[in-house]
Order: sequence, then structure tokens, then C-alpha cells
Amino acid sequence: MQVTVTVNGVEYTKEIEGRLLLVHFLRDTLGLTGTHWGCDTSNCGTCVVWMDGEPVKSCTVLAAMAGGREVRTVEGLANGAELDPIQEGFRQCHGLQCGFCTPGMLMTCRHLLDNNPDPTEGEIREAISGQICRCTGYSSIVRSVRWTAVHEAEAKAAAK
Ligand code: FES
Ligand code: FES
Repeated sequence: MQVTVTVNGVEYTKEIEGRLLLVHFLRDTLGLTGTHWGCDTSNCGTCVVWMDGEPVKSCTVLAAMAGGREVRTVEGLANGAELDPIQEGFRQCHGLQCGFCTPGMLMTCRHLLDNNPDPTEGEIREAISGQICRCTGYSSIVRSVRWTAVHEAEAKAAAK
């Protein structure tokens, strides 16, 4: 079957098998390997991307279901050489170690901040509760999101 999906603003039309998962479409068909595949049980969350602005686990979505939709992956966060503030937050606060969970964490945390610019620690922990990090113990991820919230608020105030 043929599917047309917009990924990070670029429209792709590809021949696919109906059973192909979105995570494999992104990684293997489009070569967008920023999105990781970490389990067979829909538990780890490293595969999170946005579909029409909402985070989804791309290992639970068929590529065919993304037809006609807008997908945003971790490759779509930075603006050229300029990191998205959430990427900068993870960089500043050591929100990653091995980096395997990071693509999904970034997409989930960006979505959280877009909808709740000043989240509490509890709200951050709840937002990332569908995702597993085997390295950080989560504290540095929480700090990274808080760093980003504070810096985005400051940037907004300075722009007024
Ligand atoms: S790959 Fe683990 S939840 Fe999708
Ligand atoms: S940084 Fe290694 S799994 Fe999260």
C-alpha cells in the first residue's frame, strides 16, 4: 500500500506493508534514526514522537495510521544549529547519560512545557511516567525540565 506522511514539515510518499510500525517507518524507510526502539512491550517510551501535535508511542502506531498526518520527531526539535530550549536544558543539567531514552524524553517534555510552562516536579514525573530511563534516576531529567521552564519564562519576559 502507499502512504503519505508529513514528517518534520516534509511530505513523504512511500510504498509500505500494512503491518509496518511507525517507528520502523521513521527509522528504516526514512532513515530518521533519532527515534529509538527499545522494547517489544510498549513500556519504554523511547519511541515517542508527536502525531498531529500529540505524543504517541510510535511502536504502537501503524505507519498506515499516520497517513495524512503531521509527525514530529526529535530531529524536528532544533532550529538549524539552534537547539530547542528543552535540548539545551538536558545539556545544561545532564539530563542524559547513555542517551537511549532521550529522544522520547525530549518529545514528551517539550509537549509538557508547551501545555504547562511551569510544571511542578510531580507534574514532570507524571508526564514522563510512561518512559523508562535506565541511567539517570530521573532527578537530572526533572532538573532539566525545570531549567527549561525557568529559562523560557525569562526569555518570554525579556521579549516583552
Ligand atoms: S519501543 Fe518501547 S515503548 Fe515503544
Ligand atoms: S540516559 Fe540512558 S536510558 Fe536514559
